[in-house]
Amino acid sequence: MEVFVYQKYDEISQASAKVVADTINSKPNAVLGLATGSTPLGLYKELARMHKEEGLDFSHVRSFNLDEYVGLSPDHPQSYHYFMHENLFKHINIEPQNVHVPSGTTKNYQAFCEWYEQRIEECGGIDVQVLGIGSDGHIAFNEPGSSLGSRTRIKTLSKETIEDNSRFFDKKEDVPIYAITMGVGTVLEARKVILLANGANKAKAIADAIEGPVSCMCTASVLQLHPDSLLFLDTDAAGKLKMKDYYEWIQAKKPGAPAGS
Ligand code: PGA
Repeated sequence: MEVFVYQKYDEISQASAKVVADTINSKPNAVLGLATGSTPLGLYKELARMHKEEGLDFSHVRSFNLDEYVGLSPDHPQSYHYFMHENLFKHINIEPQNVHVPSGTTKNYQAFCEWYEQRIEECGGIDVQVLGIGSDGHIAFNEPGSSLGSRTRIKTLSKETIEDNSRFFDKKEDVPIYAITMGVGTVLEARKVILLANGANKAKAIADAIEGPVSCMCTASVLQLHPDSLLFLDTDAAGKLKMKDYYEWIQAKKPGAPAGS
């Protein structure tokens, strides 16, 4: 696990966009694992800028989103299909047939989940997986108690997640109760994982994920087992880390870090 602490949200967006862009530049048909939520909005804006101003080319890129609400059609404004189209896909040159977002309206969820896992494998696996974190420590919609070996499946959302996400809906009762989500085991197979978090409401989940035990009670903690996970945090999200000074020291003392730091 590598922990990077920044003063500003924009720095998280730029640092994470650089990882994604480097992946695409070294492998034009890279497979991206993508997340929704408010946290990666700055990353997606930066990728759109890089496409427009620097020619970052998505024409051969494949993508897989982490999750979707069950019951929301792709044109529903709160669906993750819609979110991805509005915030990233329509701003870049990714081919529609290379985009994968779990279906919230399939007639056969079990078959769809199996197909989704197979499709990731057929594409050669995920090169870089973008993650946010829930205030309950979830990654994708793997709520506390999820098996750390879980695969793509239907998950019942926790009350905390429904409360957190109700800000996007007219009323709490409109938040779907079920989601289709990649599993913890699916996420762990990505070759590189980048987790982004900002704001004090993420501080406890981040401390549990980085410094707590590996536990299904905070599914993000499984990243401790991943050989190449990078965590980009702002100072508020890093606020409860006991070893924050050490993480900053590590980055300052890295070969190639600016002199005098
Ligand atoms: P957020 O959601 O980015 O909107 O805070 C993160 C998550 O629930 O994974």
